[in-house]
Amino acid sequence: MNHNKIHVGIIMDGNGRWARRRGLPRPAGHAAGAKSARAVVEAAAESGRIDWLTLYAFSSDNWQRPAEEVDALMGLFHDYLRRETPRCVENGIRLRVVGRRDRLSLSLVERIEASEKATAGGRRMTLRLAVDYSARDLIVKAAERGDPDLCRERFSELLGEAMGCGEPTKDVDLLIRTGGEQRLSDFMLWECAYAELYFTRVLWPDFGAAQLREALADYGRRERRFGRVLREAV
Ligand code: FPP
Repeated sequence: MNHNKIHVGIIMDGNGRWARRRGLPRPAGHAAGAKSARAVVEAAAESGRIDWLTLYAFSSDNWQRPAEEVDALMGLFHDYLRRETPRCVENGIRLRVVGRRDRLSLSLVERIEASEKATAGGRRMTLRLAVDYSARDLIVKAAERGDPDLCRERFSELLGEAMGCGEPTKDVDLLIRTGGEQRLSDFMLWECAYAELYFTRVLWPDFGAAQLREALADYGRRERRFGRVLREAV
C-alpha cells in the first residue's frame, strides 16, 4: 500500500442515463451529479489520502451539446462554486478551475476568481474543476510556448501555465471513470502516463463516499512498477 498522498482524477460520466432511467430531463441528471460531486469531495478530503482531486466537469467538446444543456451546466457550476466556497474554506480545500476561460460568461469567470481567491489558503486538499478542458489543446498550447531546455518537469510547468493553474501539473495516480465506458476522453493525457485506471458501471449520480472508498481500496492493492521490475522479481 502506498501511503503517499495521491492525485485522483474523476471522469464523472452517466448523468444523462441516470436522468433518462427516471424519465427526467438530462439537466436533472447533472443536478444530481453536482450533489455527488459535493459528497465525493468531502469524502476525499476526509480520507486523508488525496492531495489533489481533479473533476472533469465540462470538456471542450461538450460545447456541441444542446444549448439548454450547456446553459444548465454553466448554471450548475456557478451555483456549485457559490455554495461550496464557504465549505471549502472551512475544510481547508483550495479550489482551482483549470481549462479555458475565454468562452465562459463574465459572471462565471468572476465567480471562479472569487472562489479561487477565497480558498487560496487551503492546505488539506486541492480540488480542481476542469471546465472547457481539452488535454490535447493544452498540450499544444504548452508546446507553443517553446523552450530550448524542454524536459518533462519543464513541460509539466508549461502545461500548468497553459491550463491557468499557475503551478506545475501533477501526475495522476488514480483515474476513476464512472458510467461504464472505458476511455480517457481527452482528460489529463500527459498526467495519466502511469495512472492506475478504475472503471465502474456505477452512474455518477449514484457514486458517493462508499464508492470512492472502494476505488481507493482497489488502488491500494495495485502494484505500481513505473516500467521497472520489482525488487523481488530480480
Ligand atoms: C457526463 O455525463 C457528465 C458531464 C458532461 C457533466 C459533469 C457535470 C456534473 C457532474 C455536474 C456538475 C459538477 C460539478 C463539480 C459542479 P453525460 O451527460 O455524458 O451522461 P450520459 O453518458 O449518461 O449521457
